[in-house]
Amino acid sequence: MNDVLIKGGRIVTAVDDYVADILVRNGQIEAIARDIPADGAEVHHATGLVVFPGGVDVHTHMQFDLGVAQTVDTFETGTRSAAFGGTTTIIDFALQKRDETPKQALDRRLAEAEPQCCVDYSFHIILTHVTPETLAELPDLINHEGISSFKMFMAYPGVLMVEDADIFRAMRKVGAHGGMINLHAENGGVIQVLIEEALAQGNTSPKYHALTRPSIMEGEATHRGIRLAELAEMPVYFVHLSAAEALESVVQARDRGILAFAETCPHYLFLTEEEYDRPGFDAAKFVMTPPLRTHKCQHDLWRGLRFDDLQIVSTDHCPFCFNEQPFGIQKSKQMGHDDFEKIPNGAPGVEFRIPLLFDGGVNAGRINLNRFVQLTATAPAKMFGLFPRKGAIAVGSDADLVLFDPLKPHTLSASTHHSNADYSLYEGKSVTGKVEKVFLRGKLIVNGDEWLGNPGSGQFQRRSASGRVM
Ligand code: URP
Ligand code: ZN
Ligand code: ZN
Repeated sequence: MNDVLIKGGRIVTAVDDYVADILVRNGQIEAIARDIPADGAEVHHATGLVVFPGGVDVHTHMQFDLGVAQTVDTFETGTRSAAFGGTTTIIDFALQKRDETPKQALDRRLAEAEPQCCVDYSFHIILTHVTPETLAELPDLINHEGISSFKMFMAYPGVLMVEDADIFRAMRKVGAHGGMINLHAENGGVIQVLIEEALAQGNTSPKYHALTRPSIMEGEATHRGIRLAELAEMPVYFVHLSAAEALESVVQARDRGILAFAETCPHYLFLTEEEYDRPGFDAAKFVMTPPLRTHKCQHDLWRGLRFDDLQIVSTDHCPFCFNEQPFGIQKSKQMGHDDFEKIPNGAPGVEFRIPLLFDGGVNAGRINLNRFVQLTATAPAKMFGLFPRKGAIAVGSDADLVLFDPLKPHTLSASTHHSNADYSLYEGKSVTGKVEKVFLRGKLIVNGDEWLGNPGSGQFQRRSASGRVM
């Protein structure tokens, strides 16, 4: 592979901001200096562009099989979409099915991902049954397979939900070996009561998805999860945090010195529950879990990002089509046309995290450029054991680099995104700031609208300890 030289860009990391050249050799950053001579390298001029580390999105669901429904992006289409949005590493999920051990779930997902991924990848394993056999496998997964984070659900009783006692058991085991538990925090039992009541009263429209998942039940589960982690003496990470009540619990825990961390997602930062008032079935596009919240929640989330009560912005890219065709009913929101409980939960967004956060965060004056890099690349890499290989622009780091035009306007739309999803939550939204070039370990994979990457060129990333970052 030829050397690559990126000339004259404004290099922005979580802490730095300066103009220099970057020399890439064998996929890694070899040197950063003023005026590095070309010496036969492939030269990319970056004057006027911002150069930041490739995004790390720690919450995606590519080719995700929920039994009744499957997400519509394959590992190939989903990671290509990620790349066009400036993300060069994803952490997806390996769901432990009924008859599987965690290791078997991981092996199945690795086999699916390996020939297809266009960017680098890892997995969190979703633990669904905490048997002695499950617990026995965890140390080896953390210490030898490079899987240091495990998701557990406090919601979806009878499907994914795990009892508190089992969460506690897993926490103690995982924590003792340098791993972290990621919690989906909602009180599943109470929510089920509300769902059954709504359906019994004939309330079947998408809006009832939100009305039956109140934010205080996210707050309650978050508080409970924190207490379990406190007793287990290990770090805990809350995925897709959406509610002011949940944030309040995280803030209080952190003030008490508990290792409680959380991510939020662009849809909670840019959309509110008003979307559920859309006429007809259109509101189903916005059915994700947790649901969209109030303006007050949104305001609090932005504050959380500014003051590090929230450490990461991930997408929870969980794409389904709105229409049944061409991918079939099991990949479509239409499954729940007559019953909100059957609408597949989740929405697309992996391609828009970076442009949205740049436009609505940096341009809008809510966060600065360094914080933007911290939230989208550096903190996720540190939190999940990928730093300094990922999330950094430093000598020896992987040359995952984004050349970004901060002044270029463009419009977010499903007609131009690269996901298989047939709609976007942000259809028609104008933003300023566009990904121009993306390098994955020194190879140019996105050049404007041109795709130069290859399925299978993404590499599995073994991770070190999770949740040890402050
Ligand atoms: O609605 C969502 N978020 N679907 C994906 C599954 C999950 O809970 O993250
Ligand atoms: Zn979840
Ligand atoms: Zn998710």
